[in-house]
Amino acid sequence: MNNSPSSPIGIFDSGTGGLTVAHAIKRLLPHEHMVYFGDTAHFPYGDKSEAAIQAYSVKIADVLLKKGCKVIVIACNSASSAAYELLKEYVRKEAHIINVIDPMVKLITQNFEGKRVGLIGTKRTVQSGIYARKIADAKKNITLSSLATPLLTPMIEEGFFNNQISHEIISQYLKEETLQNIDALILACTHYPLIRKEINHFYNNSIPVIDSAEEVALALKEHLQKYSLFNDERGPVQRTFYVSDYTEAFEASTRLFFQEKVLLEKHSLWN
Ligand code: DGL
Repeated sequence: MNNSPSSPIGIFDSGTGGLTVAHAIKRLLPHEHMVYFGDTAHFPYGDKSEAAIQAYSVKIADVLLKKGCKVIVIACNSASSAAYELLKEYVRKEAHIINVIDPMVKLITQNFEGKRVGLIGTKRTVQSGIYARKIADAKKNITLSSLATPLLTPMIEEGFFNNQISHEIISQYLKEETLQNIDALILACTHYPLIRKEINHFYNNSIPVIDSAEEVALALKEHLQKYSLFNDERGPVQRTFYVSDYTEAFEASTRLFFQEKVLLEKHSLWN
């Protein structure tokens, strides 16, 4: 197990959306070193099979373990639903592992007992039924209604939002029968915080629209506390960002997700 507190936190997603989680982690844990991996060569994960996402996730875990990461954060709902259990086994002796689903389930089951909660996410996440299963396990009489919204991630990754067409696509999805009369909406994709404003506008701010970034950062903080893994060195903090395929569009979109410019380095998954 890599238990050195000065080791980095590894974070990965299919692309740059997981940077919303990385940003929340940076805000809450500013002294932690970080290695981010965006699997842009295989983006989007949402329409891939479970087996394909598992294979990519294992390869990414290998890269992050080689970089000496003490914890791996799966900053992607699609990969969390397809590969968390497998990765937990795979990295068991070498690093801790955190997914984006359990912190959200904890928040929902603690705060929405007896309520009707909507969820939007990728096809992979929604078809996996993982949120419904985990929420049902808590036995809190919460009704979950989920809708796959596959156009949203590519639209956001292209930087295509806050315009008339994105408003139209978002409202077409949110008007679906499945999502009527809900008391809260879960954003079950790490890309979606970028369209939160448009979603809030659709609902006139009348219901909570919840993403997992801050909950995941908090879960990570608790984990570091529990296992005495906080970095207590106070030198310069290193944050490295890898992508499996490089285009300028990806570099441009990192600023939207991470809220500052980052330099992407290309790192193949297959050597
Ligand atoms: N951001 C990811 C998620 O949370 C992946 C979206 C995709 O690649 O389709 O599901």
